[in-house]
Amino acid sequence: MSAAVEPCLRLSGLRRLSGEVTVNGAKNAALPCMAAALLSDEPSRIRRVPEIEDVQRLIDILRAVGARAEFADGEVVVTPGGECGGTPPDELAAALRASFLVMGPLLARSGRASCGAPGGDVIGARPIDVHIAGFRALGATVETVGGRTIAEAPRGLSGATIVLDYPSVLGTENLLLAAVLAEGRTRIVNAAMEPEITCLAEMLVRMGAKITGAGQHTITIDGVSRLSGADHELIPDRIETGTLLIAAAATRGDVCLRGVRPDHNEALLAKLAEIGVEIRREQDQLDVCVDHMAELQATNLQALPYPGFATDLQAPITALLTQVEGTSIVHERVFENRMQHLDELRKFGANIIAGGAAPVIIGPTPLSAALVRGTDIRATAALIVAALAAEGESRVYGINHLARGYADLPGQLRALGADIEQLPTVDTLNS
Ligand code: EPU
Repeated sequence: MSAAVEPCLRLSGLRRLSGEVTVNGAKNAALPCMAAALLSDEPSRIRRVPEIEDVQRLIDILRAVGARAEFADGEVVVTPGGECGGTPPDELAAALRASFLVMGPLLARSGRASCGAPGGDVIGARPIDVHIAGFRALGATVETVGGRTIAEAPRGLSGATIVLDYPSVLGTENLLLAAVLAEGRTRIVNAAMEPEITCLAEMLVRMGAKITGAGQHTITIDGVSRLSGADHELIPDRIETGTLLIAAAATRGDVCLRGVRPDHNEALLAKLAEIGVEIRREQDQLDVCVDHMAELQATNLQALPYPGFATDLQAPITALLTQVEGTSIVHERVFENRMQHLDELRKFGANIIAGGAAPVIIGPTPLSAALVRGTDIRATAALIVAALAAEGESRVYGINHLARGYADLPGQLRALGADIEQLPTVDTLNS
């Protein structure tokens, strides 16, 4: 038995969530927008930035490549100055996936960029070949030396048609960030269509970039010679929104989410409607109210690139599907290793038959409290959803992952009436 001293969440389940919360700005929009600020010598202000670990880590990286970056009161101000360049320390690069987003801006503005292997959640191989092929198409030479990617374009980048092998989110963002200062026209074909791409493009346009088609399959960029700073507000976090909707449904709750973009969650809203969860939508508000006696129905779903069902909500909705009537199949088609929550869900008593990337969930199963560990941001959120629906007092470990991606999910749930607190604890996982 090994004693592990680490914080965990203590949750008492079977309490109906009820009340109102406001959703934070989007993590996955904050990161590329902060990287975009490197493209100008002038300061940029990004508003509605969530207080999460990944934002702090990217601030450290921006500072390491020569920018001034400050985060206060939900705003990040980045002042790049003329001397930006260099390589982020490898341990910082390895701390988050979005570290690689410094490549596009630094290559575009100084003709050279390098970065160690980017880290992030361990949910699949997560190669960077789409980014590299795109930089090469723009005229850069790219090589990998000692695990670092080094891209060079001493005479600047030239616009090109780039057909992505896969509509990678960060890949599309990195190429957009590089192409805005390239000479001539770039077309990114088979681009990712996530709302975070559109949010980034809007910030770049505010900086003076010429971009059309963001949010569609093909993005066209006409390069400009310089960009100014910008003041830009982030979109609401659609994954936080989805997690809260799912948590509300799992507790048969009565919850109002404010400051949201319902149109960014169409796939989830359609699935919840199919399950039998009624949601009233207004322009920036979602109201979910599930009757205590309502019988929710099973469904099948596939996690896909946007506008398909978000892979980041695949684990949380799996937790909800343990509480609905019938057999559901959830097929993860974006990442090849994003099923690590299943064994932990079984510890609550969930009836899940392993099926590789497409497990079968048989419900409803009464869940009972468990001691579980999240292995990535969204897996940890899924375990919180399960604990909210379980009888008794659960402990959820791995909350360092949660802090990387959710500004204050436990606080939001507490505001909705959940009995949840963070414990410093000397409990052991193996006792
Ligand atoms: N892929 C390649 N080659 C590449 C890049 C990606 O084959 O060069 C593959 C990946 O292996 C994966 C698939 O493409 O199978 C999707 O990867 P993508 O590049 O689209 O993901 P990402 O950009 O690394 C972002 C989010 C993830 C989110 C995915 C998919 C950020 C910082 N991260 O990652 O968010 O799951 O898109 O929507 O924007 C999270 O927030 O918890 C999270 C993991």
